[in-house]
Amino acid sequence: MTVESDNDLQGLKEIGRIVALALRDMQRHVRPGVTTRELDAVGGEFLRRHGARSAPRITYQYPADTCISLNDEAAHGIPGDRIIRPGDVVNIDVSAEREGYFADTGASMVVPPATPLKHKLVACARAARDKAVAAATAGERLNVVGAAAEAEARRRGFTTLRDLGGHGIGRGLHEPPRDVPGCLVRQPLPRLTEGLVLTVEPFVTTRARRVVAELDGWTLKTEDGSLSAQFEHTIVVTRGQPIVLTAA
Ligand code: CO
Ligand code: CO
Repeated sequence: MTVESDNDLQGLKEIGRIVALALRDMQRHVRPGVTTRELDAVGGEFLRRHGARSAPRITYQYPADTCISLNDEAAHGIPGDRIIRPGDVVNIDVSAEREGYFADTGASMVVPPATPLKHKLVACARAARDKAVAAATAGERLNVVGAAAEAEARRRGFTTLRDLGGHGIGRGLHEPPRDVPGCLVRQPLPRLTEGLVLTVEPFVTTRARRVVAELDGWTLKTEDGSLSAQFEHTIVVTRGQPIVLTAA
């Protein structure tokens, strides 16, 4: 959507803050021995307490409130009996709706003790997201978002997934533009416009550029088993630096 009023901006800021705090609450509960279902319940409870509904559940009949993807899983991991272990790379993605407005956020973390490589991967994914957010200025083409993310990943010795990226959002979970690239894309994409609401969510991996779908119909894994990390913000594009809606 494009923000057209103070009401729009207020509604988006409220749900942005709720998903950001739900994510933080879940992260606080990440420790060896906890199941991904227990973490999902923490997030789901938080959303309900704040009058919000899980966006993937109401949009796609997704069977949980949040997505929790471990290690070589890039996205859409379904919470369940899986137990968090020391050294796991844990990605949590929370998107939700309140009063007709949607926001989407995500973050990766490592469960100690973990190898330096895993810490570097997660730090790189955060930096790639932040560079990509900073590049999203009205008038530029969408390409600048992916170009900034991929440049940062390569500078640090990692790479970005070609198959996954951000999307327009606001009145629904997935809106035009359908593809906010998380990697370098050669063909010219549409230009960013003032007030446009979108997610920036490059996926950084130790090697893979593509994902494969698991038999559960949801989970997307790196094609070669390499590790993946992702950070996601929902933003409003302006002529200067974007408004970040999902910074807690
Ligand atoms: Co997300
Ligand atoms: Co998203």
